[in-house]
Amino acid sequence: MEQSSITDKTVCIVGLGYIGYPLAEAFSNHIPTLGFDIDKQKIQKLANIPTNVRVTSDPTLISTADFVMICVPTLLTKDNEPDLSYIRAAAAIVGKQMKKGAVIILESTVYPGVTEDILRPILEKESGYTCGSDFKIGYSPERINPGDDVHILSKTTKIIAGMDKETTDDMAALYSLITTVYLAKDSRTAEAARVVENIQRDVNIALINELSYIFNKLGINTKDVLEAAETKWNFHRYTPGIVGGHCIPTVPYFLAYTAKKSGYMPNMILAGRATNDHMTRFITDIIISNLKARGKNPARAEIVILGLTYKENVADTRDNPVVELIKNLKEHDITVYGYDPLLSPKQISQLGVVPLDTFERTVDCFILAVPHAQFLNGVNGKLWRIAKSDILFIDIKGTFYKDPKIRKLFDYRTL
Ligand SMILES: NC(=O)c1ccc[n+]([C@@H]2O[C@H](COP(=O)([O-])OP(=O)(O)OC[C@H]3O[C@@H](n4cnc5c(N)ncnc54)[C@H](O)[C@@H]3O)[C@@H](O)[C@H]2O)c1
Repeated sequence: MEQSSITDKTVCIVGLGYIGYPLAEAFSNHIPTLGFDIDKQKIQKLANIPTNVRVTSDPTLISTADFVMICVPTLLTKDNEPDLSYIRAAAAIVGKQMKKGAVIILESTVYPGVTEDILRPILEKESGYTCGSDFKIGYSPERINPGDDVHILSKTTKIIAGMDKETTDDMAALYSLITTVYLAKDSRTAEAARVVENIQRDVNIALINELSYIFNKLGINTKDVLEAAETKWNFHRYTPGIVGGHCIPTVPYFLAYTAKKSGYMPNMILAGRATNDHMTRFITDIIISNLKARGKNPARAEIVILGLTYKENVADTRDNPVVELIKNLKEHDITVYGYDPLLSPKQISQLGVVPLDTFERTVDCFILAVPHAQFLNGVNGKLWRIAKSDILFIDIKGTFYKDPKIRKLFDYRTL
């Protein structure tokens, strides 16, 4: 399909969350764009935003679209297996409504095979159409990184894979309106490439986290070691820390699930997960041993956690390892306060900590868990003004590792 004829088409984004809505906005600058979500309250809010996206909770409008992108959540069950219930439900809605000739594209992160083996049969069953002749399918994983102003949609190559050459070409013409594209061999390859992105990060972070456990036992500072090691030309930079979010801690289990089904036990991938999940315990142990070393009973200790979202500069508290850290600290009867400029006091209390809106209080320990931009200047210096050299300052990501002032103001530790 030529670019000129592509812009005569209509796209519909199904699922207007962190991923779907920015995608809809990007398309809406070039092509008629509909946004469908089952959450009526969200639709009401989005309807007030002045954009070209026409938002709706009426599924019948999906029938007006030539391309439908499904951007719904993919979660894990409590046994760490993929929970595809949102995809199944969205596929059922799309299957019932889609018009003949439409191209249905899955954008959600999935393990290899979901587009062909799960999406396709649901669409066929619900529509009564035959895939290949009456409609086409494809996969194009989303790579948006919420809170990142550099790697934005328009500057990030998008992998696309249609079920045949014609579909891939049409998808290429469509997605080229908003970014550069890479044509993968098929949807299984594109699905596999997507999970590799997160698995590679998870396993590499796990290695550095394991090194930090070892160096901590040996009384060596991991940051000092890494700084020395990175002078080697082929060194890969990763820092120790807690791993949260909707992708990195989840996606390795997607591939582990299919690997196990195929008869292979992915020991390394699973070991990476276990190592990273252990980090909140490791941090708790560091705090407890430091408090005890200075004669402080942890049950009388007061700690403030700075930054309570799953990552910096994002007001999202889902899939959040800080919650695990809070739980671990409270098991030692420590009084835990929380401060986060991106969250309301109500949101902070819901995480199980006492919300703080001021730094007037001197506590035993600050944990800089998530270094939002506001923390880089100590929240306009307020934090620095109450500093004391006997206050433990645990800087999980080593944000101030190179800042001699902060290291002098507090009893400063990194992992
Ligand atoms: N958030 C990220 O950082 C990120 C990054 C890359 C990829 N992804 C992947 O993108 C996908 C979407 O993630 P997200 O973070 O945007 O999720 P989200 O929870 O922010 O949004 C999902 C939206 O889908 C809607 N929805 C659920 N079921 C629906 C249905 N049947 N029909 C219509 N709408 C429905 C929900 O109401 C919600 O608005 C997931 O597979 C995720 O793994 C997420």
